Amino acid sequence: MAVRRWAVVPAAGRGERFGGRTPKQYTPLLGRPVISWSIAALLASRSIEAVVVVLAAGDRRWPSVPEAADRRVSVCIGGARREDSVANALESLAHRAHDSDWVIVHDAARPCLTLEDLRRLMATTRDDPVGGLLATPVPDTLKVDDGKGRCVRTVPREGIWRALTPQMFRYGLLRRALMLCKDRERPVTDEASAIEALGLRPVLVPGRSDNLKLTTSQDREVIEAILRSRRGP
Ligand code: CTP
Ligand code: MG
Repeated sequence: MAVRRWAVVPAAGRGERFGGRTPKQYTPLLGRPVISWSIAALLASRSIEAVVVVLAAGDRRWPSVPEAADRRVSVCIGGARREDSVANALESLAHRAHDSDWVIVHDAARPCLTLEDLRRLMATTRDDPVGGLLATPVPDTLKVDDGKGRCVRTVPREGIWRALTPQMFRYGLLRRALMLCKDRERPVTDEASAIEALGLRPVLVPGRSDNLKLTTSQDREVIEAILRSRRGP
């Protein structure tokens, strides 16, 4: 039986750090909503079977996103935390996905993913028993504060990475990992952290450092500049 690849795009967040009336995943970048860029980056790979987009209950903006009409795209409703949203998407795939299939989780708020990075992630993890994530080494010196705005110490940056998305794990393994973390009330900030909780070691796949997440309104200008620079003349 052929192993298939499913993508999950969590887009059910409220974007509190970004602020504003429109949830950040629908903010326009060069005239297209953030989520449209993020999904199109996944659809660019023909080896992805389907994309499940996780929406907040009552989301009325989704139908106007161009990718909503793509036959490979479907939706489900999210939960209170990001990991609940991802777990709901996995549940919605239960009748289609096998335990050995791959699941590629990519944040709706990360519109600068390139096909090259996506392909590198898929190629590097293809025969891996655990799976992996795009990540990039931290370039700056890291400081720990005293809670009052002064440095207490410096953390060596050797061996420290920024976790990006997509992150890619086997369907059965990821479901088990998320359930275990939920049972243990362990916070899950990304899929890899849930896999680590099982005692496994996801592969760090070096990715582009400009695969940025739109978190605050300050990020918008730089993300637009990145997207603009990639457009042809
Ligand atoms: N997300 C989700 N379900 C949630 C929370 C987050 O699907 N309950 C999604 C967001 O829509 C986003 C991605 O997970 O695409 C990464 O989360 P983050 O950047 O933290 O987005 P928000 O949670 O929306 O932002 P904030 O934390 O500032 O409120
Ligand atoms: Mg959040």
